[in-house]
Amino acid sequence: MLDRINNLLAEISAASLKSHEELESFRLKFLSKKGLISDLFEEFRNVSAADKKEIGQKLNLLKQSASEKYNLLKAGLQIISKTSYSMDLTRPSFPWNLGSRHPISIIRNEIIEIFERIGFTVSEGPEIENDDHVFTKLNFAPEHPARDMQDTFYISRISPEDSNPGDILLRTHTSSVQVRVMQSQKPPIRTISPGRVFRNEAISARAHCIFHQVEGLYIDENVSFADLKQTLLFFAREMYGKKTEIRLRPSYFPFTEPSAEMDVNCTICGGKGCNVCKYTGWLEVLGCGMVHPAVLESCNIDSKKYTGFAFGMGIERPAMLKYQVNDLRLYFENDIRFLEQFKTAF
Ligand code: PHE
Repeated sequence: MLDRINNLLAEISAASLKSHEELESFRLKFLSKKGLISDLFEEFRNVSAADKKEIGQKLNLLKQSASEKYNLLKAGLQIISKTSYSMDLTRPSFPWNLGSRHPISIIRNEIIEIFERIGFTVSEGPEIENDDHVFTKLNFAPEHPARDMQDTFYISRISPEDSNPGDILLRTHTSSVQVRVMQSQKPPIRTISPGRVFRNEAISARAHCIFHQVEGLYIDENVSFADLKQTLLFFAREMYGKKTEIRLRPSYFPFTEPSAEMDVNCTICGGKGCNVCKYTGWLEVLGCGMVHPAVLESCNIDSKKYTGFAFGMGIERPAMLKYQVNDLRLYFENDIRFLEQFKTAF
């Protein structure tokens, strides 16, 4: 009998299993009323008084190991059944890598923060727009080239030949947000609209069909070109450094009159001339001007009482200059090796 008990002890300690069925057979074999251990206890009644002590102890040990092993196997099965559903072996293990902000977001936040300090609010609008908000209300003539398929991504056009205020398209600038603000708010208005814009351009190191802008709008009584110039000078010095100089060159936009292009002196060569500024000493950073009275009127703002200025800039260019990124496409590829280089910036 002792030999049989020892064999069972060895079998129990070696037991391993993979399923609940196997666990149940283990229980039936060793622990049930009709199991082997019960049988042995039955047999134990007939053991001689001399062997009772030794065999009795062994038998109790056998029973205890069988029930301990049963609990252990059961717990093991529970872990397996839980983890086989929730364990993701491809997940990175501790310590976890912290993410980093995208360089475009860093520069966008920097621009927003500068204008917030002088009282501008942030407005957002839809990326899928209609012609009315992107072009018509902004005084674009019906045959203006920007409305051409070559510049604008159309989602649906009412007539393929003529542009229509109801045409649905991807916004080509965030000036559309300013139209929405003018339609829904009363002056004084002081707001900037950051966002993604789309133009049908061939993708290269210097151009992309998706890019980001921050545009600004200020409307009140007696807003003058001098206010525009001073606001932009403040912005340029906060953004590019205290010693930055600006230069305004006459330009043209359908929605501003007069219009200008603003340059800052090249921070790379200090104005001496380099290949970034194409040896001019100046970098073009934004377009601006006094809001055209026709635009105010189209948004139901009295152009006799109110005047305003507007400006708009891309974010990719200043980000390229600041981080010396020489290929625009890197911003959109989300290559982790590129993005991880911005860990220390916020
Ligand atoms: N909307 C113009 C652009 O996308 C920028 C701009 C905004 C110019 C406001 C003048 C005034 O290029």
